[in-house]
Amino acid sequence: MQEIVQQIKGKQVAQKKFPFLLKEGIIFPPQLSLEQSSSEKTALYKSEILKGKKFIDLTSGFGIDAYYLSKNFDEITLVEQNSDLLEIVEHNWTVLQRKAKFINQKLEDFLNENKETFDVIYLDPARRDNNKNKVFLLEDLSPDILEIQEKLLSISNVVVIKLSPLIDLKYLVSVLPSIFRIDIIALKNDVKEVVIFLSKENLGEITCNCVNLESGESTFTFKFGEEENAHSEYDEPEKFIYIPNNSILKAGIFNVISEKFGLKKLHPNTHLYTSNEKINDFPGRILEVEVVGNKQIKKKSQFNIISKNYPLKPEEIKKKYGLKDGGESYIIFTQSKKGKIIVKSV
Ligand SMILES: C[S@@+](CC[C@H](N)C(=O)[O-])C[C@H]1O[C@@H](n2cnc3c(N)ncnc32)[C@H](O)[C@@H]1O
Repeated sequence: MQEIVQQIKGKQVAQKKFPFLLKEGIIFPPQLSLEQSSSEKTALYKSEILKGKKFIDLTSGFGIDAYYLSKNFDEITLVEQNSDLLEIVEHNWTVLQRKAKFINQKLEDFLNENKETFDVIYLDPARRDNNKNKVFLLEDLSPDILEIQEKLLSISNVVVIKLSPLIDLKYLVSVLPSIFRIDIIALKNDVKEVVIFLSKENLGEITCNCVNLESGESTFTFKFGEEENAHSEYDEPEKFIYIPNNSILKAGIFNVISEKFGLKKLHPNTHLYTSNEKINDFPGRILEVEVVGNKQIKKKSQFNIISKNYPLKPEEIKKKYGLKDGGESYIIFTQSKKGKIIVKSV
């Protein structure tokens, strides 16, 4: 019975997360391994970046990342400490007609015995505890990247590591001197992964990419540290208001985007931007707006309510003004340099 339930749950998760596995003969692992695996969409994005001869995933898990990321490689190795899980992956890869070497070992033991070199090593460490909301350090992950980074770099040209969106980018750069690229990957404006790339060659500046998949927005690229030298000009709302997407906000490049797109910011702590001319390639939402007074907000009107750098939360605003949620229009409660303001889409 338990086995049947596991397979039904697996199929349900697969419909959303990895539809490529909805095939005759595929076996699904227990819930935790399903939760820990990447989605097909983010895996596909990563697969487009990587290419080479030899690929190894040292934390295979259910192998979603490995399946996609290894597509452009000739020799593929999967390491996983959980033997039941690896058996399932091996079975599924046979069904999918994909070849790989499957190694059931703790990766630390594998690394001690290994004499091979690779073009790419991939890791998607597991959390040591189940507290998903904790802002964590690399030491809280299994494996501990800090302990093995030198070893990894000694046997591979590039090491790619997937991390939680909660990780602090400055912290990462301070503890991992070999980082040369950071990708902040969102799917429909929900930041899913921070992916870092390490190399033993000193590649100089760190390139960062803010990616928002399935949004129609193009990737925004900047150099790590650019924010320190960037400046914003401030102004009251003009014809257009720009709300940066969440991968930009995660990157903390509030002044960089102001400079790059020639936009004025509303306030040092309000990450909203404005201009009279529409800048179409801005990575985020663009609204044509007007400033409104308290009294111009009619009860029972319908808005998507946004609160940014404003004392009340959307729920409280909704109550106070008797508004309805949703619809096509937006109302933003925020602060400019002059104080509290309300802008509404026209
Ligand atoms: C987050 S999951 C990987 C999910 C995978 N990227 C996917 O897309 O399906 C992490 C996996 O790493 C394995 N793992 C953690 N520490 C390990 C270690 N020291 N040696 C080998 N495997 C390890 C866990 O058993 C778990 O299955």
